[in-house]
Amino acid sequence: MNILLIGSGGREHALAWKLAQSPRCTTLWASSGNPGMAEVIGGAGQGGCIPLALNDHAVVAAFCLAQAIALVVIGPEAPLVDGLADSLRAAGIAVFGPGKAAAQLEGSKGFTKDMCTRAGIPTAGYVRAKTAAEAHSALAAFGAPVVIKADGLAAGKGVVIAQTAEEAAAAIDDMFGGAFGGAGAEVVIEEFLEGEEVSLFAITDGSAIALFGSAQDHKRVGEGDTGPNTGGMGAYSPAPVLTAELEARAMAEIIAPTVKAMADAGMPYSGVLFAGLMLTADGPKLIEYNCRFGDPECQVLMMRLESDLVELLDACARGELAGAAAPTLSEESAITVVVAAKGYPATPASGGAIENLSAAETRGAKVFHAGTAETADGKLIAKGGRVLNVTATGVTLREARDRAYAALAEMRFDDGFWRSDIGWRELARQAAKP
Ligand code: AMP
Ligand code: GLY
Repeated sequence: MNILLIGSGGREHALAWKLAQSPRCTTLWASSGNPGMAEVIGGAGQGGCIPLALNDHAVVAAFCLAQAIALVVIGPEAPLVDGLADSLRAAGIAVFGPGKAAAQLEGSKGFTKDMCTRAGIPTAGYVRAKTAAEAHSALAAFGAPVVIKADGLAAGKGVVIAQTAEEAAAAIDDMFGGAFGGAGAEVVIEEFLEGEEVSLFAITDGSAIALFGSAQDHKRVGEGDTGPNTGGMGAYSPAPVLTAELEARAMAEIIAPTVKAMADAGMPYSGVLFAGLMLTADGPKLIEYNCRFGDPECQVLMMRLESDLVELLDACARGELAGAAAPTLSEESAITVVVAAKGYPATPASGGAIENLSAAETRGAKVFHAGTAETADGKLIAKGGRVLNVTATGVTLREARDRAYAALAEMRFDDGFWRSDIGWRELARQAAKP
């Protein structure tokens, strides 16, 4: 079948790499894609990267009809929250990814909290506030620390963990003052949860659900998880801290009731549910949902996936997941190290030359492109904050880690940097085992 993949980052390079391996994939297109994806999907007359105007849904639908696209896979959250899946479905095209109503699970934190209340899903206590006055008066009930969140999409930046009531009050004023634009027109105030964070992935067609594995990421830019938040500086999968028992609890107490609640509300969720969980003393609690694969979590999941990705995503898109074989992931560990441009996350340097990627790949790693471009004379340069994802597998996490860093040492990107401690929490735990 002909497939169109929407997106252009490391997550989409990993998806393209896996989709292209499927015998069911005839022609693969990506919009807008990146130079790494072009290598995967290029080939004589075999699709390619094409910059479609993604906010013009009619343009995307017309392309799909002209190219006989049988499946559209939407990578990032913005087109999902914008309703691209609905427009394509209305044109008769199968889509992997939720429609606008269901994508509110990521697009509105207040929506998700209310859904949790209705369905009895364990999550932090909260209050929604539509005005600064409401928010300030709600604060008293929470004490400190307390978490203040802009309701809407804020590119991962709309969350403030306030250590004091003063910080909380300032965050509220910032958000209602427009610091996050429309995303902060409503605010959610949340109880601070203590524990270790872990991500759990499940795919669903709106009724059947299949687990897709766990991961942990490193959100802070600096070594030892310090400094400003980023989109993620590295990740590994599986996350052994989510034991089989905890995973089963999260599935029964969080994921399954969510899928049911969404169907009951008349907005069945189809696509991937990416649950951010806090492992608290009382068990797993939902921190947030994303309506897409994580970036860079997707990269490690794809490295471990043994199943045919086209079959799985197509089954979700067509409402036939119940009849599909469950995803199998290798027992191996996978790790990805994000190579970012100096200055990221504030002002990443653009245009730095990248060399020796093929040498890096001969060290047993796979390098996914996240923010790269090709110059007119065919040289690879940086274009974006997160530039590359150096990804490897191993029998142990330690082996995977060593492979990824050995590969990193082979490549040359003078304008780049990366964290040297990806996986540290789990590696320390494993090193401490007798
Ligand atoms: P989010 O954008 O919702 O993922 O939040 C960003 C980060 O803030 C999460 O990954 C957590 O580390 C932290 N966080 C969010 N909500 C809470 C909470 N209720 N308690 C503790 N930490 C939280
Ligand atoms: N790495 C976190 C995310 O994709 O939101």
